Amino acid sequence: MAKDTLSITDNRTGKTYEVAITDDTIRANDLRQIKVQESDFGLMTYDAGFLNTASCRSSITYIDGDKGILRYRGYPVDQLAENATYLEVAYLLINGELPTKSELDQFVSNVTHHTFVHENVRTFIDGFRYDAHPMGMLVATVGALSTFYPEAKHVLDGDIRRAQMVRLIAKMPTLAAWSYRHSMGMPFVYPNNEMSYSENFLYMMKRIAEPKFEVHPEIVRALDVLFILHADHEQNCSTNVMRGIGSSRADPYVAVAGAAAALYGPLHGGANEAVLRMLREIGSVTNIPAFVKEVKGGGGRLMGFGHRVYKNYDPRAKVIKRLADQVMDLVGKKSPLLPVAMELERIALSDDYFVSRKLYPNVDFYSGLIYEALQIPADMFPVLFAIPRTSGWLAQWEEMLLDKDQKIARPRQIYTGYDERKFVPISDRRPPAAPASHSKPRAETD
Ligand code: ACO
Repeated sequence: MAKDTLSITDNRTGKTYEVAITDDTIRANDLRQIKVQESDFGLMTYDAGFLNTASCRSSITYIDGDKGILRYRGYPVDQLAENATYLEVAYLLINGELPTKSELDQFVSNVTHHTFVHENVRTFIDGFRYDAHPMGMLVATVGALSTFYPEAKHVLDGDIRRAQMVRLIAKMPTLAAWSYRHSMGMPFVYPNNEMSYSENFLYMMKRIAEPKFEVHPEIVRALDVLFILHADHEQNCSTNVMRGIGSSRADPYVAVAGAAAALYGPLHGGANEAVLRMLREIGSVTNIPAFVKEVKGGGGRLMGFGHRVYKNYDPRAKVIKRLADQVMDLVGKKSPLLPVAMELERIALSDDYFVSRKLYPNVDFYSGLIYEALQIPADMFPVLFAIPRTSGWLAQWEEMLLDKDQKIARPRQIYTGYDERKFVPISDRRPPAAPASHSKPRAETD
């Protein structure tokens, strides 16, 4: 009779073990009983980069990478992008259900009334070098908010936790916009609580001296949709960092700072910045074949292509591609890089190298072109990603804290270093005979 168990025979000893299978998963700890001698540590799994390891049980975001499915709390992301606002989606991620009208009004009001930051924050944003990268400033200032809210360390107190979640969602656009203003040498603009979340962000970033600052509502909506598409993506690199930092019970400000730092890298949220630079470097459609040849020869990666989870078209990229067209129509100018991007996509989707590796455009491939059309510099792209991802990080963080299975994140290792050695006094030390061998560095963007 079929059983939900796995039988494992250890060929070193001939012993057979039976371990439970739940949700198509075995518990790594069940392997610890597999030993040759009683004094052994027991069998471990090796999974560098977590290719096949579930680190948690989660009910927030569902992805089926082969089918190109992304759902938040069960709702397909394209339906949310079509029908909801970003704050509605943030509420959904955090609370598990879409808000009623009065719940949404209350949430929007709470967020809106926490958009201001302590005046000292502006002093230390002012202290950054004139050419500081806005993402570096965002990481530093969001971490510094920890010092303004010392009660935030009581992470097991539900009311305190929720207050910080609202604060973080509310203040990220302010910190982001101010980082931008500083990098442009422009005076800071204080939040305008008459405006919606996305409009207020554009206002704080873009206002110069207009008596009445106005952005086309469809541009505001496009930004809100981009925020929805970036709000969560289950156990990605930055979320894993958020959970990892949070697992030590650090407060959410420093945890968000760590998550944002992970997002900054070019293989994660920094990819949209890298896509734009790549498109500029290619410059024109005629240069594409040579560029693709170089990529296939191992000379770099096609940025904005490929995904650890999606082995099909990223569902977010489909929405963003449509949005890119709409935004460019609205601002009245097509980016000269759009034909380069479209031709690159066409070639890549028909080239065996990319097809056989299931490399499709990801969320970052077209988002940079939208931001460029909105005259937002490439340095700001990862910052624009961090703003909405904050709600996802916080939902995942709280889920982790309330999960009885979770403990401080602490992986094992396979030790490959020296066995015990006797200490050598400094006077007796000699340089090694041959230079220490370093493993071959990985590709620049890897
Ligand atoms: N261009 C060219 N080749 C690629 C690319 C790419 N963008 N991505 C993967 N490959 C190749 C690899 O060289 C490898 O080939 P091989 O089997 O001959 O060695 C194969 O495809 C598998 O690649 P991995 O690196 O093993 O895939 P992994 O799942 O580890 O990486 C990642 C996923 C990091 C996203 C990768 O596809 C990549 O670097 N893409 C470009 C950066 C990017 O767009 N990142 C944004 C991701 S979305 C996000 O974070 C929001």
